[in-house]
Amino acid sequence: MAKNIPPKQNMLYVDYQNALSEKVGVLNGVSRRAFLGALKKNDRLLKTVFRSKNKEGYAFLNLPDDQAALLKIKKWVKKQGKHQWENIVLLGIGGSALGTIAIKEALIGQYQNPKIKPQFFAVDNIDPDHVAELLSVIDPVKSLFVVISKSGGTTEPLALHSVFREKLIGKGVKDLKKHFVFITGTGGNTLRKFGKKEGIDCFDIPPKIGGRFSVLSSVGLLPATLLGIDTNALLRGAKKMREMVKKATPEKNPALILACLQYLLDKRKRKVMTVMMPYSNRLFRIGDWYRQLLAESIGKKSTVGPTPITALGTTDQHSQLQLYNEGPNNKWFIFLRLLKYKNEIKLGNHLPDNLSFLNGKKLNQIIDAALQGTVGSLTKNKRPNVTIDIPKIDAESIGMLLMLFEIQVALLGLMYKVNAFNQPGVEESKKITKSLLSKKT
Ligand code: PA5
Repeated sequence: MAKNIPPKQNMLYVDYQNALSEKVGVLNGVSRRAFLGALKKNDRLLKTVFRSKNKEGYAFLNLPDDQAALLKIKKWVKKQGKHQWENIVLLGIGGSALGTIAIKEALIGQYQNPKIKPQFFAVDNIDPDHVAELLSVIDPVKSLFVVISKSGGTTEPLALHSVFREKLIGKGVKDLKKHFVFITGTGGNTLRKFGKKEGIDCFDIPPKIGGRFSVLSSVGLLPATLLGIDTNALLRGAKKMREMVKKATPEKNPALILACLQYLLDKRKRKVMTVMMPYSNRLFRIGDWYRQLLAESIGKKSTVGPTPITALGTTDQHSQLQLYNEGPNNKWFIFLRLLKYKNEIKLGNHLPDNLSFLNGKKLNQIIDAALQGTVGSLTKNKRPNVTIDIPKIDAESIGMLLMLFEIQVALLGLMYKVNAFNQPGVEESKKITKSLLSKKT
């Protein structure tokens, strides 16, 4: 019988005991036997994922090896040094924004020291008030705009490009092209054609890579390099995870474990919602990125599609946990537990009587105890959950996480028997929007 893998402080580790029936009962948890059977059966499908690495969609597996693309990006970014950009502004949406936002928040944080340049802003909406707000805090003349669209024809990034272009013209900028760089799919799409006409530098998103699987291509690497993130380490981490998942035995394979639990809990135990809850602000947007990855990849038929939810610990203990613990038992939980935060922050010793247990403690201990409290209460209430231990946050560990979830979701596509790499439901809405806007008013 497979035992849970013993935790190693320097390795990512998935603790899945609380998803098993032994802990949360047969109605809500997966029996060890069914789980082991699923691991064995689906290991074959995982091999299919790796064998398909040159096929449509699966090519994200090759991205960590693309040193030539990274070198090209680094050379270009080096040349940007002369402009001393104060702001890097990403204009993109969905898979063309969420991964980069997740990387930036994980490795730089949410609040940036205003003295450190460049500052990063991502505009992934066309809310006019949001755009106006950004324009009130940045000077477009001191900004580089990174326009990302795989199709090169999505309304939002193209509209945003036009807005900022107009602002630059309004400010008397003559050399517009130096303020923009485009990242788009190969082939003659609208954005690429426009870039060519205006002489704007353009980076390719390699073929056979879907938007939400593109974070380790130029889509994430170019903005990350502009922000000084160690992109070599990011790719190294992704490669490490890929190789580990490729070689690991089923019982020790984190991608296979997570995919099997997702499938069994959804299909057999009616846990139709997946809550990803990092106990780390820095990892919160990874949860957001995962939300898209799982929803858009697997939500394809009226009978197939777990609903992903993102929550933040401890914040959402005080907003969602009541529902999670006592509401409908139709969810399962993935906790991201950080073993070592970058900082240790200690409390004072002045707290009185009933709070004196906090005296002299570190926030680090308190947040971890709170996580254990949540896990403990959910398990007691028979709500299946897993905890992924993450030793620390650095570029390598983030690369590992991104690759882990991408492989899990690619595998889920095969398990649920859906095409994980298309998004007809998204395309449909894009078409309707365009036709509405094309009507003469
Ligand atoms: O994952 C996807 O393919 C989508 O979410 C796209 O990323 C999103 O619709 C934006 O499309 P594009 O990058 O073509 O502008």
